[in-house]
Amino acid sequence: DKGEYRHFMLKEIFEQPRVIKATMEGRVTAKKVLEQALGTSAGDLLKSVRHVQIIACGTSYHAGMVARYWIEDLAGVPCSVEVASEFRYRKHVIQPDTLFLCISQSGETADTLAALRQAKKAGFRAALAICNVPGSSLVRESDLVMMTQAGPEIGVASTKAFTTQLTALLIFTLALARHNGLSEEREAEIVEALHRVPGQVEQVLALDSAIAEMSGAFMDKVHTLFLGRGSLFPVALEGALKLKEISYIHAEAYPAGELKHGPLALVDSDMPVVTVAPNNAMLEKLKSNLEEVRARGGELFVFADSQANVQAEEGLHVLSLPSVHEVTAPIVYTVPLQLLSYHVAVLKGTDVDQPRNLAKSVTVE
Ligand code: M6R
Repeated sequence: DKGEYRHFMLKEIFEQPRVIKATMEGRVTAKKVLEQALGTSAGDLLKSVRHVQIIACGTSYHAGMVARYWIEDLAGVPCSVEVASEFRYRKHVIQPDTLFLCISQSGETADTLAALRQAKKAGFRAALAICNVPGSSLVRESDLVMMTQAGPEIGVASTKAFTTQLTALLIFTLALARHNGLSEEREAEIVEALHRVPGQVEQVLALDSAIAEMSGAFMDKVHTLFLGRGSLFPVALEGALKLKEISYIHAEAYPAGELKHGPLALVDSDMPVVTVAPNNAMLEKLKSNLEEVRARGGELFVFADSQANVQAEEGLHVLSLPSVHEVTAPIVYTVPLQLLSYHVAVLKGTDVDQPRNLAKSVTVE
């Protein structure tokens, strides 16, 4: 039931504060991750993990890409991320004590399941699933399971599944990091930041009409470019995927530092450039990337931290977001990009919940 909402996608976007909170429940206290967050038997396993191999497809793959930044930064454990359809068809080198982590909303994605089955034969240490559907094949076939509490996701374009995956992945990272030298103070700082996320997402949702207004500029465009740096690069990828899926506008995402290495050649006044700019160590570098775009006449749409001091001017549209902790920024900054794609699709009159050529769950190769 869509309730008061015009589409399931919009309803699911607005459910995020609640389902993010639900995904934290029973897994974190005010200041720390609970030992049982990954099940009672996980402690010994986490102590022995020396490498994490993440496998997923589509949006779930983007969640895995964010997690790699977290896992290497906070736990200092090497992490690889690969799309399932590539991983399953190549020979791979298995590092000792590798945790195999599959991320899937449905738990029925054919490529992800095939990769897991192969990995089991190849002898990984253990398999952890982050999944939204209880009783799915992925859940049944994994050693450890962290359920996301997104509830049924009907819109083909994944929204609340992604932000709850990120929530679960951050909790997993902290549980792993605790066995790898993360201090109690740092853990408390990040858990406190995570507790603030539902409220911050609420604040972003309040920008809905401002974002709807912005979306008019995209309606007649054929190409768009999404930029982010660090853990916000996968958020840019996810923003571009959403726009492609439901508005059929060609969207590409790049880590902003790569602009000069090619994509800058595409930039002109017909190609809007969307950028996510939280207040982090990369901000100054990102700003100079934006200058490069402005100098070529590109129109910029920047979602920026209110403290980041990015000033609107001719051709540079700024939407101020609440100040967020740099670790949790990928969760919060995803939401305005979801709303942007949604409103562009509505203006274009596409079938938002059921875009052409796509299925909700890809159970065949
Ligand atoms: O159910 P899964 O998370 O395994 O699905 C993976 C992808 O098929 C899925 O995320 C797809 O990319 C969505 N349509 C993205 O919006």
